[in-house]
Amino acid sequence: MPKSGVPIKRIAISTGGGDAPGLNAVIRAVVLAALNRGWECYGIREGFNGLLLPEQFVEGGIVRLTRERVRGITHLGGTIIGTTNRNNPLAYPIKDKDGTIKEIDRTDELVRAFALHHLDALVTVGGDGSMTIAKVLAEKCLRVVGVPKTIDNDLDKTVVTFGFDTAVAFATECLDRLHSTAASHGRVMVVEVMGRYAGWIALNAGVSGSADVILIPEIPYDLHQVVDKIRERDAQSQNFTIVVVAEGATQKGGAVSVREKEIGHAERLGGIGEKVAQELHALTGKETRVVVLGHLLRGGSPTHSDRLTALRFGAAAVRALEEGQSGIMVALDPPNVNYVPLDEATRRMKTVPLDCDTILTARDLGICFGD
Ligand code: F6P
Repeated sequence: MPKSGVPIKRIAISTGGGDAPGLNAVIRAVVLAALNRGWECYGIREGFNGLLLPEQFVEGGIVRLTRERVRGITHLGGTIIGTTNRNNPLAYPIKDKDGTIKEIDRTDELVRAFALHHLDALVTVGGDGSMTIAKVLAEKCLRVVGVPKTIDNDLDKTVVTFGFDTAVAFATECLDRLHSTAASHGRVMVVEVMGRYAGWIALNAGVSGSADVILIPEIPYDLHQVVDKIRERDAQSQNFTIVVVAEGATQKGGAVSVREKEIGHAERLGGIGEKVAQELHALTGKETRVVVLGHLLRGGSPTHSDRLTALRFGAAAVRALEEGQSGIMVALDPPNVNYVPLDEATRRMKTVPLDCDTILTARDLGICFGD
């Protein structure tokens, strides 16, 4: 029984933001850990849409999660309860009579919906957006534990988020495959990877996959440095170059490359790979090709590391609720899983420190960052 409040009988789980490999493993761990305590567990459909827009779901906005429902899902990508990176309850987009779209706060309504469904507590799995929503819900006295998820690894106060390892493993495999075709044709291959405003995926995959150039948001680049690197390789009879570009990378003094920006949705990044490739072709005359890995990084089966982290996070979230904790996020702090206040976890974005060992390693290997 929790230290504070009424005893828990029913809990809910929600998955929000972009999907990431390992979400189903968290769901399974939360459900089994809850059932083993005699609690019922319900999944909220598509982030919080299941409570805010229940009429949209044939089966209802919340779905009972039984042992049968979570059997055999640990290794599956995606999320069985769905997710969305729209309809943030803190800035929910609605159309005014005159057609203009404005954002309203629907968190009070959400808290009431929990009471209506007799849901005593929430485990919410997501990135910075979901953790900020969780913080507000906890301030409004809902019992909430957050579980950090994102392929971008940009959440603070946890050594890693699940989903990141799978994304890096896949990107690395792609770089391995691109080497032979780049070498055969003597081309420059530009590989754009996701990651939003942090360069973790580009850096880790770039170093592991033997990229020659890595461009990340934390180090604004000067393309002439990249051209020098390509020429240096040509002079050494290495007439191909692999360039990894994070989607949030920017030229010195330049702006991030945005595909789309609409109210109620974070700006969608993309296009920097094409830009870099065109400019490199213009500056070197070399044949250049672009590969955008995009959503492929979010698909597929989680690696063993992501599965284990996700299962540990899910079980730890339920233990935290049992201990009466709320307003916290589970976090990896090897060898343990710890709890950090949501307030601390949401204060800043975790970007790549310029003096981190992986950057130093890359520089020692002769990898160019365009600086
Ligand atoms: O945060 C995860 C992420 O995959 C980012 O790397 C990327 O910028 C964004 O989501 C893409 O979101 P969407 O699903 O809207 O294309």
